[in-house]
Amino acid sequence: MKILDFLVLLGLHSAAAVIHSLKYIFTVSSQVPNFPEFVVVGMVDDVQIQHYDSITKRLEPKQDWAHRVTEDDPQFWERQTAGCLGYHQLFKGYIETLKHRFNQTGGVHIFQWMVGCEWDNETGEVSGFRQVGYNGEDLLSWDVKTNTWIAPKQQAVITKNNWNNDKAQLAYYKHTINQELPYWLKMLMNYGRSSLMRTELPSVSLLQKTPSSPVSCFATGFYPDRAEIFWRKDGEELHENVELGEILPNHDGSFQMSVDLNLSSVIPEDWRRYECVFHLSGVKDDIITKLDKTEIQTNWSKTGAAMGGVVVVLLLLVVGIVGFFLWKKNKKGKEGFQPANTSDASSSSSSSSSSTEVPVPDGNQPRSKEENELQ
Ligand SMILES: *[C@@H]1O[C@H](CO)[C@@H](O)[C@H](O)[C@H]1NC(C)=O
Ligand SMILES: *[C@@H]1O[C@H](CO)[C@@H](O)[C@H](O)[C@H]1NC(C)=O
Ligand SMILES: *[C@@H]1O[C@H](CO)[C@@H](O)[C@H](O)[C@H]1NC(C)=O
Repeated sequence: MKILDFLVLLGLHSAAAVIHSLKYIFTVSSQVPNFPEFVVVGMVDDVQIQHYDSITKRLEPKQDWAHRVTEDDPQFWERQTAGCLGYHQLFKGYIETLKHRFNQTGGVHIFQWMVGCEWDNETGEVSGFRQVGYNGEDLLSWDVKTNTWIAPKQQAVITKNNWNNDKAQLAYYKHTINQELPYWLKMLMNYGRSSLMRTELPSVSLLQKTPSSPVSCFATGFYPDRAEIFWRKDGEELHENVELGEILPNHDGSFQMSVDLNLSSVIPEDWRRYECVFHLSGVKDDIITKLDKTEIQTNWSKTGAAMGGVVVVLLLLVVGIVGFFLWKKNKKGKEGFQPANTSDASSSSSSSSSSTEVPVPDGNQPRSKEENELQ
């Protein structure tokens, strides 16, 4: 047994700190058929908790426990709904300015504003990020360390300079990241603890498309999204001939992931030496699935129907997350995630809820018409 496996067995790895996050994504689109012009999605630990769109015109909780904000702030939903209406107009103005800047006329355009914070519940460390995307690319990002905007695109340089000269707005940004978002995150974690901290084990199956395809070990239905899946041979983790997939969200709030094993050079008698291991963070017992030909669900036999089911689930998944991730995840954008100076964050729990304008956060706060232009 390897040292690492031994530690995993003892559950020592779970002593690692847990990072919690609160994140808002604002999406304004123009001329996307059958899609609301403005959508706001709020997430704690990547679980959707709030939703607003320009068709319903209401900010609404998406989890039972997310209703509970009114215990601390009775006017919460009304006030934040009004905030959403304002941000719709503000960001709609931005999209018009950007079309101009990029010499675009009609067609489909998407503007996104993402803001959030991360909190290490052991050290108390807080960091935050703020990113602006246009048509699927990074346009501007805010650097938490220097409290300045960065423009990866030439067309955004004028905007960057203007925003960096707006010291009052920058001070407000710093305040939201260091105080307001962590304040709300901690409060929401308190309400949602039993749901957010739960663990759910997945069902694990072996799938194979054609007799010569790799065998896929597919785990679906687990929570949270801190999990590992890998293949072992004679008890040793394999790194060759394996391909690890990403953790993906299911439409019911659980997650799925898979790892493929290419068996083309393995003789049938050796198959029994292989097994797939699924490990969920915080759970002692791994799910171990032996590589057994009779257990594999395939496309070309009677059990093909099961595989069809998987395809349907995947399609549902794609439909379900389109709204979330119109703006594709961009690794580069992660540069904004750097530890913040936490000296003023530690007092955040004492900030009163009446002074917070977040969770419906902070575009540039609506001001005069000229200032609202994305110049
Ligand atoms: C937009 O058009 C102007 C004038 O035709 C040109 O100078 C500018 O480079 C164009 N900008 C873009 C982003 O294509
Ligand atoms: C941090 O999170 C872990 C894991 O969920 C939990 O056991 C622990 O009590 C939390 N610590 C604090 C200080 O909230
Ligand atoms: C599996 O491995 C063989 C050689 O070991 C290679 O020829 C084949 O392309 C691989 N298949 C996949 C799907 O990667």
